[in-house]
Amino acid sequence: MKQVKIGIVGLGGIANKHVRELLACPDAKIVAICDVDAARIEEKNALLHLPAEKCYRDYRDLIADGEVEAVEICTPNHLHAPIAIAALCAGKPINLEKPIALSFDEASRITAAAKEAGITGMTCFSYRFMPAVRYAKHLVESGALGKIVGLNVAYLKDSALWEGRRLEWRFVEKYAGSGVIGDLGVHLIDMAQLLAGNVTEVVATRGIVVTERPTLAGDDVGPVETEDICTFLATFACGAQGSFHITRAAAGFKNTIRYDVYGTRGSISFDLDRPETLTVCIGEGAVDKLTAETRPVPEAFYLAQERAFTDYLLGKRDALFPTLADGADGQRVLDALLLSAKEKRWVSL
Ligand SMILES: NC(=O)c1ccc[n+]([C@@H]2O[C@H](COP(=O)([O-])OP(=O)(O)OC[C@H]3O[C@@H](n4cnc5c(N)ncnc54)[C@H](O)[C@@H]3O)[C@@H](O)[C@H]2O)c1
Repeated sequence: MKQVKIGIVGLGGIANKHVRELLACPDAKIVAICDVDAARIEEKNALLHLPAEKCYRDYRDLIADGEVEAVEICTPNHLHAPIAIAALCAGKPINLEKPIALSFDEASRITAAAKEAGITGMTCFSYRFMPAVRYAKHLVESGALGKIVGLNVAYLKDSALWEGRRLEWRFVEKYAGSGVIGDLGVHLIDMAQLLAGNVTEVVATRGIVVTERPTLAGDDVGPVETEDICTFLATFACGAQGSFHITRAAAGFKNTIRYDVYGTRGSISFDLDRPETLTVCIGEGAVDKLTAETRPVPEAFYLAQERAFTDYLLGKRDALFPTLADGADGQRVLDALLLSAKEKRWVSL
């Protein structure tokens, strides 16, 4: 069996998911890893047992490694574009974490490099691989909901409120680009565009709840520059309207996503605390006689993200495969949200 040989750059929190899922793919093999932090290399290599010469401190060395056929990029946001462009210029397909860049301009440079290299590439829109989302997309496409008219979405976390959390890269604009908008909102936007089509207009407001944090190095404090909370409205080319509330300052919520999609013939709701079920209110006959039921998602709608990346590398691309172009589309909406919040007005896309 052909095994695709993969290198991973950035070995922090999200890399754990990439490693775990790649290890579960018999036709993928992690052959090299890279991090600037030796402790992170040591921690991951306790599981992977790679020879020392395959554990890099500089991403350019991993990309130049002739054995590496494809690169997974799991670094902080400001490094996405340089690493992605370097890999694409070397002719290596990438799986790039979201948000793919700090701005739409930067995202466009990535997609231009991908086009030049003839590589589609993947954006890590992980929620496209939640069974409930895949089933929801199927039901919307089947016409079971009629014409989509509304979306109501909440993403709730408590991660801004963790005691003693330091001024990590996520709280600094030049490293993160934005706060919950880029971190969490981009998933919601991607799912919205998947289910309801293109966003055409947005209006947003954003705020910082915890305004300063202890710095990484010392006992002093520094300002938080990226938003903890954002609420926005969106209109879609199909005429639908959406309302979105995203926060990392919701005490008691670990990672809750509630997503309702309403159509003229029915509705669907998912709660990604339970991604293996979907609540549907659909059926033949009069809409006012329909009742909601929560169903298990059929087996056919299960696909792990790294399985999809491996399949793509082997020439079998899934229908919902999130491309780099999809990542750039999400970035276009992020830019519009940031501009709207700054200028306190509706922004057209
Ligand atoms: N798809 C998802 O659902 C999801 C979830 C969480 C995070 N993410 C994304 O994943 C990315 C990383 O997030 P995280 O939570 O894992 O961050 P993290 O801080 O836990 O890990 C980042 C890692 O990158 C390393 N790094 C920094 N500079 C580097 C360089 N020049 N070369 C190599 N490695 C370098 C750091 O040492 C660290 O180990 C972000 O873009 C984030 O938005 C995506």
